[in-house]
Amino acid sequence: MGLKSLLKCINCGAVYPHEVLYTCKGCGDLLTIEYDFGDLPSNILDKWRERTISVWRYRELLPIEDYSKIVTLNEGGTPLHVCSNLARSLGIKDLYVKNEGLNPTGSFKDRGMTVGVTKALEFQMKVVVCASTGNTSASLSAYSSKAGLECVVIVPAGKVALGKMAQALIYGAHVIAVHGNFDDALRIVRKLCTLYPFYLLNSINPFRLEGQKTLGFETIDQLKEIPDSVIVPVGNAGNVSAIWKGFTELYTLGIIEKLPRMIAIQAAGASPIVDAMKSGLSEINPVASPETVATAIRIGSPVNWTKALGALRESKGLAEKVTDKEILEAQNLLARTEGIFVEPASAASIAGLRKLINNGTIERDEVVVCVATGSGLKDIDIILDRFAEAIIKAEANFEEVVKLLRGGSIGSQRLVRGGG
Ligand code: F0G
Repeated sequence: MGLKSLLKCINCGAVYPHEVLYTCKGCGDLLTIEYDFGDLPSNILDKWRERTISVWRYRELLPIEDYSKIVTLNEGGTPLHVCSNLARSLGIKDLYVKNEGLNPTGSFKDRGMTVGVTKALEFQMKVVVCASTGNTSASLSAYSSKAGLECVVIVPAGKVALGKMAQALIYGAHVIAVHGNFDDALRIVRKLCTLYPFYLLNSINPFRLEGQKTLGFETIDQLKEIPDSVIVPVGNAGNVSAIWKGFTELYTLGIIEKLPRMIAIQAAGASPIVDAMKSGLSEINPVASPETVATAIRIGSPVNWTKALGALRESKGLAEKVTDKEILEAQNLLARTEGIFVEPASAASIAGLRKLINNGTIERDEVVVCVATGSGLKDIDIILDRFAEAIIKAEANFEEVVKLLRGGSIGSQRLVRGGG
């Protein structure tokens, strides 16, 4: 089993043993997991190095009581790309992209679900449930299939990328599309879980977030140094908080000697965290009708706002918003300079980086890690629309294809000179 741990309220400090609980019984605030680090073996780094890089490499720091119950699809161990082409184009020295789209269901959610669904088995729950803008539902559906659990997902009708809907359907979840946005769907899910024995696996679930903190662990393992800034797209605000928790645990354990600053990026039409940070508020003002092309982060009332504001302020970090146009330009730029295809929400981190370099907030000699949260393959309609004109149509005739190539700029040099 992992180190001994308890559920702890982030506000009043009340502690609870592991149980099906999402908020404090006393004050109603969010819960986190606190470990007894005293039991950590002194050779822990050697142990980690002997294991392949993945979420479970760090199992001592995951809140699992029975390793035999682990539900895994080989999540984590995603590449940290050295992005020198993009760095050059943005005018920065050291840029890395953590490509979470290469997780089993194509997003960082799998890190959380491997732990969350394992907890569902430990708690002997039979049904798991989530609200989702798409990726959470895709991931939960897959892990619940692997675990043999029933899965219910509630999504905002007409606002989820089709690839993500297809995933939930093929994995066999019960998919309910509601007229409303993600925040409405989450309210319904939370109420369902007070009335029925369903296990809630949104990021309000503190066990799920423990899996996501391994993104921070892996980044340090792969980079072998501490980045100056880590840039994360933010919706419900669980991931930025979880990654920060990962860094602070390594710091508390003396494994790293300094901490990066966390930078949260939201879409301009759904930016309550950015607005609170910029105005120095201690609470967010929810956005009633969030809107953005980055549907994954189309969230007006992020449940983890307290944790996120805490993470950003403790890390001396900041938050910035980007427009849909900036997001789509960044998606293009990342694909064309580095060969990495991410969904719009993920491109928000690149768009934010660009903005913060241009306004001098990020220095040109900083070491920066951008988290690319999910694969571009799930959300292709908008791309096919944008590039409809780019497809050159021709008869299946060799001479005609050569004529088209010669007439344009494609490979014309090579064609004129002949050769292989
Ligand atoms: N990027 C992607 C691709 C996401 O799917 C999400 C969240 C985020 C960023 C934001 O992460 O919520 O922890 O701040 N997607 C959730 C979902 C809400 O239902 O799939 P967060």
